Amino acid sequence: MHIDRRAFLATLGSAAVVEAMSSEARADALEHYLIAQLDKAPAAKTSDVRSGTGALFGGPSPSGVRVPLAALAPMPDQPTLVDFLRLRGTPGIGNHILQSAGDALKKGEPDETVLACLLHDFVLNLMKPDHGWWGAQMMEPYVSEKVSWAIRHHQALRFYADSSVGYEYPELYVRIFGKDYAPAPYIKSTYEYARKHKWYMDARMITVHDLYAFEPGVKVSIEPFLDIIGRHFRQPKEGLGFDGSPVAHMWRTLNYPNNPL
Ligand SMILES: [Fe+2]
Ligand SMILES: [Fe+2]
Repeated sequence: MHIDRRAFLATLGSAAVVEAMSSEARADALEHYLIAQLDKAPAAKTSDVRSGTGALFGGPSPSGVRVPLAALAPMPDQPTLVDFLRLRGTPGIGNHILQSAGDALKKGEPDETVLACLLHDFVLNLMKPDHGWWGAQMMEPYVSEKVSWAIRHHQALRFYADSSVGYEYPELYVRIFGKDYAPAPYIKSTYEYARKHKWYMDARMITVHDLYAFEPGVKVSIEPFLDIIGRHFRQPKEGLGFDGSPVAHMWRTLNYPNNPL
């Protein structure tokens, strides 16, 4: 996908504002900017909502694009992962994760990598800061330890090149943000830990397929992933949000995003 550097930087504000942003915030801004290009929503001023607000709640991308808040379809009494993907995902994020999983499937990745790609950014509908950690936690009771580990660590790995798999995202960051680009210390130490881990490549491949998942106009159906979800996502019979798991509230919050308390 072509990135208009000037247009992107303009979405962030003045040079002083960009200068004051941490590297992590800038990188997140870029990811959200790219996802926003997949949304067909009109631009809107969003100064009344913090940037970290999840997309389902009207949270803006840094480009100022917000998905208009339309009425939500009712959820089934025992909602499944697929119900959440279909009924509580916003279009830009949904498109992005389906495209990344589609790329993984097309390239013959193992089931768990395809699943990790499919789930890696879903949590952006709920919460944006530290989305790797939030996203992993949300999925943890229902997927293998390896899949949640990969989701958690993709956030840090995307800042660091790995030529063995052709991952050059950091080069893109250098082009956009300049040579002084440096991830926050907690991201760096997480990367250093993950780099030596036996599941490093599982997280790394999320970042690789991420590169092919910002194509406007490309729609990927969820159908090809239903078997993989069935085999590798432990759908609770009570429904997500109602199974008493430590993360049930996260699913309920997406189910009932208008509850006042
Ligand atoms: Fe991500
Ligand atoms: Fe992503």
